[in-house]
Amino acid sequence: MADFAAAGHYPVMLDEAIEGLAIKADGIYIDATYGRGGHSQAILSCLGSNGRLLAIDRDVEAVSDARERMADEPRFEIIHSTFGQLSDVVSQHGLLGKVDGLLCDLGVSSPQIDNAERGFSFRADGPLDMRMDQSQGVSAAQWLQAADEEDIRLVLRDFGEERYARRIARAIVGRRDQWPIATTSELRELVIKASPQRDRHKDPATRSFQALRIQVNDELGEITRLLDQALLVLAPAGRLVVISFHSLEDRIVKRFMRTYSRQADDLPHDIPFAAPAKPSQLKLVGKARSASKRELAENPRSRSATLRIAERCPC
Ligand SMILES: C[S@@+](CC[C@H](N)C(=O)[O-])C[C@H]1O[C@@H](n2cnc3c(N)ncnc32)[C@H](O)[C@@H]1O
Repeated sequence: MADFAAAGHYPVMLDEAIEGLAIKADGIYIDATYGRGGHSQAILSCLGSNGRLLAIDRDVEAVSDARERMADEPRFEIIHSTFGQLSDVVSQHGLLGKVDGLLCDLGVSSPQIDNAERGFSFRADGPLDMRMDQSQGVSAAQWLQAADEEDIRLVLRDFGEERYARRIARAIVGRRDQWPIATTSELRELVIKASPQRDRHKDPATRSFQALRIQVNDELGEITRLLDQALLVLAPAGRLVVISFHSLEDRIVKRFMRTYSRQADDLPHDIPFAAPAKPSQLKLVGKARSASKRELAENPRSRSATLRIAERCPC
């Protein structure tokens, strides 16, 4: 872990995630969010020579990092993909129903936030991009240029829980009709001007940036797709460990785990997943956990982390 900390990257809730995976030395594991490989390296350190780790990341730079860092690691393979395509990736490797543990550490990595050129941060000026996979899709600037005012308002409201969504959406449309909003600083200034009141402890642009990031990367759709495929991928007694960083993500994970660990006659009606043909396919392992006081002191980013664990029931 020392070299990760030195590089400004701390794998969040590392001990809890490794404990949650209950790693078997000869097991098959998936790290669905490689990032800079903090969790992957810890998983590998628990595996014997017959163990195997497949890692996924949609970010080209993360994939290059893995290819370099893990070049001499025969138990490891990195795949450039979204985790929403999990079952395709796993079936191409002939591993459907054979995976002993699936880890998903959601959100963006420190290198993504810290590099101004990626456009995730309102603290540094850069192009308003925000795509985790810059090899495809539409940047935040392009999306803001083309979207309806009403769609912008709904994204700010639903994904950012932004109370001034209407005013900010109107200001964006007013501005873009004169010239495109191309940089993080332009967007931040516009949000500040459109927000009549400010939180004392939060930059006024925080919520709008979160909302746009979620929209540009279809983050909630991705989590839902990943969870929908998790049961297909996991072996009996396989573990699912998810670390989320805001309530919108955690709500989806919590409802999925609860839904699939219930009895048939006890299912909620409004779940965003395929209704389980057979409930009780999962067993909850412990309660939701937060980062320890020690980790909070070392890494403020862990403040908003929630980790949940479930186990695939034998069937
Ligand atoms: C919080 S970081 C993971 C950090 C990692 N656990 C570590 O210790 O270095 C999240 C990573 O997941 C990737 N990611 C986020 N959503 C993804 C998705 N839908 N499919 C694939 N990768 C995704 C991001 O590109 C980022 O590199």
